[in-house]
Amino acid sequence: MVYSDEFIAGVVELCEKRSLYLIMDDTYNRLVFDGRTPSNCYRFSKAVNLNSSKLVVINCVSKMYAMTGFRIGWTVAGKDVVRAMTNIQSQETSGPAAPSQWAAVGALNGVQSCIESLRLTLENNRNVMINRLEAFPGVKVMKPGGTFYCFPDFSAYERDSQKLSRLLLDKVRVVTVPGRDFGMEGHLRVSYCGTVKEITEGIERIKWALDPNAPNEMFLGDRKIVRDWQ
Ligand SMILES: Cc1ncc(COP(=O)(O)O)c(C=O)c1O
Repeated sequence: MVYSDEFIAGVVELCEKRSLYLIMDDTYNRLVFDGRTPSNCYRFSKAVNLNSSKLVVINCVSKMYAMTGFRIGWTVAGKDVVRAMTNIQSQETSGPAAPSQWAAVGALNGVQSCIESLRLTLENNRNVMINRLEAFPGVKVMKPGGTFYCFPDFSAYERDSQKLSRLLLDKVRVVTVPGRDFGMEGHLRVSYCGTVKEITEGIERIKWALDPNAPNEMFLGDRKIVRDWQ
């Protein structure tokens, strides 16, 4: 779910009242749907300037420029916080590789329409995924307001999300992340980052694997899969 402005304003107010640091991970803030605009926590701050603020906003090239693996991000925060972060990072990682840094500079200074085009693709993929999941008997799913994941509840079929995830990988070659890792047994995290064809194919395979009344055989490409599980 995407946090509302009211929610973020409330968290900022609470943190500032209690003198707590607030770290806002804005990694997906440009990939939001249904006409939403990204929220900016600094709008709600009562601090006189950035250096006296305890807000720490982080972001990266990973998602909005589809540059996962480059591992380049940035922080907007007061000088003292940034200095402390720099000290720790320079000792821990010796700094990110120069080619990754230059690639990030290229992304940030390049044509920005790629972000909107990615966002539109993901919004369409989200709609395809949600339509398919809503038509999946027994599955409950909340429509995500952004990102490229959704988190359907498969507990009507199997409560043990690790077991279910393993079954889908082994039997029908669909990768999911068990909800247990997010504190939500019975759920699976599925991504709609791929093509519409991959999304529909993935859901069809899951359906076939879980439906005891489905035909006993299915073809994955030219490989025949025979059901040998309940
Ligand atoms: C919410 C969130 N923040 C930060 C990151 C970090 O991205 P990276 O390490 O690729 O820069 C990710 C990546 O999965 C993410 O999902």
